[in-house]
Amino acid sequence: MSAPARTDYSMTASPGRRLPVAVRAGGCVIEDADGNRYLDACGGAMVMLLGHGHPRVVEALQRQAERIAFTYRFSFSNEPMMDLAERIARVAPGDLEWCFFNSSGSEANESALHLAVLYWELQGRPGKIEFLSRVTSYHGSTMGALSLSGSRWRAPFELLLRKYAVVPNADTAAEGAAALEAAIMSRGAEHVAAFVVEPVTGSSGAAVPLPDGYLAAVREVCDRHDVLLVADEVITAFGRTGRWFGVEHFGAVPDVITFGKGIGGGILPLSGMVASRRLRDVIERSPSGFSYGHTFSGNPLACAVGCEVIDVIESEGLVEAARVRGEQLHARLAEIAGRHPVVAELRGLGLLRGIELRAPGGGRFRAADGMSGKVSAEAKRRGLMIYPCPTPVGTEHMDALLLAPPLTVTEAEIDEIAALLDETLASVEAAL
Ligand SMILES: Cc1ncc(COP(=O)(O)O)c(C=O)c1O
Repeated sequence: MSAPARTDYSMTASPGRRLPVAVRAGGCVIEDADGNRYLDACGGAMVMLLGHGHPRVVEALQRQAERIAFTYRFSFSNEPMMDLAERIARVAPGDLEWCFFNSSGSEANESALHLAVLYWELQGRPGKIEFLSRVTSYHGSTMGALSLSGSRWRAPFELLLRKYAVVPNADTAAEGAAALEAAIMSRGAEHVAAFVVEPVTGSSGAAVPLPDGYLAAVREVCDRHDVLLVADEVITAFGRTGRWFGVEHFGAVPDVITFGKGIGGGILPLSGMVASRRLRDVIERSPSGFSYGHTFSGNPLACAVGCEVIDVIESEGLVEAARVRGEQLHARLAEIAGRHPVVAELRGLGLLRGIELRAPGGGRFRAADGMSGKVSAEAKRRGLMIYPCPTPVGTEHMDALLLAPPLTVTEAEIDEIAALLDETLASVEAAL
């Protein structure tokens, strides 16, 4: 006889609907309390760089927990935080070298906004307190990060938020630069502190890479108007796209890169930002330095995990693995796409892959159809976890799916992901 259902006192996004209770996980596989097995092809929300419970990361966590697990940033520094900053400075592009650590991607982006405002204030430009970001974007759920986001998550809070996500998506670098320049002029360059952009869209847009040369073109516009360039790499940093950082595909170095998700090894919350030497030189000259932060900023336990994640990525050659496995995943998806009219487009870089869906007859599904949710629910029933991306695109609606398996995914697991997706799409199409 099974145990009586428990009363659930936790807040959930699915009241009245019980989610399976996950009880253990390893590598690409999650198991629930009923013994069901799920192949994790999206790491929840694109979190898993090394798969669940990588043994070296678990050991690093245990080692550090036995030494010291918490320090408060106004009282102590700690070795793992300095070690992690040194590692990130080594792998980051250009003169990006100055790191600050938090727990969530939203916090990482908030800290970048604070850094930008502080930088301009110290440069004698206190009026530069506005931000710009792209229409199709997601940067987090705190008020500043949500103000930057063009995603559907804004809706309940619209009246509380600033309208930063006004820069149209562009098909070419030249269009992108013109769109950014028009937005800067309309706000007044004297008010704009920074432009924030994802190198490859994540949960909003499903893996749309920036156009070739986009970053170099907007970098030039930013420099001409004294606007900082911030790349949100909360999903793309540390190998996900087949390079250490997503910006490396697009020909320019930003002033700040924010990161999160995968750097915590799927074991602890860890995020942060790495800023350029130029920003460091200005801000470190001020008596207050960078005094922004949260209680757990620079947490030694999380940073020890982050160090091990980078060491594993380096020693196992996982940046290159993401490129190779990403091409394999794309090839498998292309094979099955040919059999499924519901697939409109495949896109992405490395192991961040998007599948845009289309309705019978060729147009987009309506938001009310909830198609990406239906496909991901059907995949889950078949033991495959994929991420649904229903996205507003102007006044239209786009349904897409996101795949982001760990960089450690095997060739056989990629074949299994493709086979389960093939069955899922066949079943969804049969019901249309
Ligand atoms: C690109 C991007 N930035 C920021 C965030 C916010 O991160 P978090 O949910 O850890 O606050 C996300 C989360 O999905 C994201 O995809």
